[in-house]
Amino acid sequence: MRILAIETSCDDTSAAVLDDGRVRSNVVASQDEIHRKFGGVVPELASRSHMRRILPIIDTALERAEVVLDDIEAIAATCGPGLVGSLLVGLTTAKAIAYARQLPFVGVNHLEGHLLSVRLEERVDFPYVALLVSGGHTSLYYADDLGRYRLLGATRDDAAGEAFDKVAKVMGLGFPGGRVIDELARQGDATAVRLPRTRLKPQPGSSPFEFSFSGLKTAVWQLVRDRPLASDAARADLAASFQETVVNTLLDTSFAALKHVGCRQLVIAGGVSANTRLRERAHKVGADAGVDVFIPPLRYCTDNAAMIALAANYRLERGESDAWTLNAAADLEL
Ligand code: KG4
Ligand code: ZN
Repeated sequence: MRILAIETSCDDTSAAVLDDGRVRSNVVASQDEIHRKFGGVVPELASRSHMRRILPIIDTALERAEVVLDDIEAIAATCGPGLVGSLLVGLTTAKAIAYARQLPFVGVNHLEGHLLSVRLEERVDFPYVALLVSGGHTSLYYADDLGRYRLLGATRDDAAGEAFDKVAKVMGLGFPGGRVIDELARQGDATAVRLPRTRLKPQPGSSPFEFSFSGLKTAVWQLVRDRPLASDAARADLAASFQETVVNTLLDTSFAALKHVGCRQLVIAGGVSANTRLRERAHKVGADAGVDVFIPPLRYCTDNAAMIALAANYRLERGESDAWTLNAAADLEL
């Protein structure tokens, strides 16, 4: 089955062609240049840019896959969660192509795309625990089988990626913050600055595998406010210390969840899984605990249409597709 998939849930415009589960092309156009001067994604500008770019990106994806639209057998697009204006551009384009060509159409949950992204390159059998860490989400799922995902816990406030972006902003490092902090932290000492790690008090009925990053973010903000960073070394030390705190929090909770469900496979996905230190530590902690850790290659960590095509492929194999009435949903759950 040859699938054309579109992903426009936030600020990356992406199209991909998947052929019998193999990625033939995966084109991603970043909007970082557009949003940089605002220090964050501006929804209205994001959807306008998707509109301008979506057709040329689809053409490029077809060209790189060395196919034409006539060769495509199904069309997929992300239908949520995300920015509704952004989602609508990709979803409507996908529906229009599918309708005009009378092809099956599949709407994909962006989070399922991330959860399955590791399978684009590696064989990972179910069940696994998946840590989904991005700009909008920090959640742990128990993935039992295709389409069977149980939420084990999530963040009570900020997502980890959001914390990276906001800390980079208060440190004057620019946007998007994750990659900048990752690079700067390599020159810093991760033990230089003591930062608080939020220990959540279990609440009745709440999950023991929750995260919280807003206290950490505020602590960095207070530090910088009280004592402006005077040198590059001080900036690198703070970046490394912040990153280390986030990485330790993510891994401690993930490994506690693995133990709780009695599972020996951990998948880490979403934009923050591109983080060098998280990747390094996850493999080390996994080896010590006898847990196999799987993390997609960098190009499939951040938003991309290849993972959307893969999730659609599994649904099409089961004979499923969606109606033309399927709408975008900003807070679609998994
Ligand atoms: O999955 P993604 O591309 O978009 C969402 O669905 O949110 O994730 C984007 C997030 C941003 O917050 C960005 O700062 C973060 O992923 N990120 C990183 C790194 N690369 C991207 N965070 C830490 N280290 C990185 N190397
Ligand atoms: Zn994402």
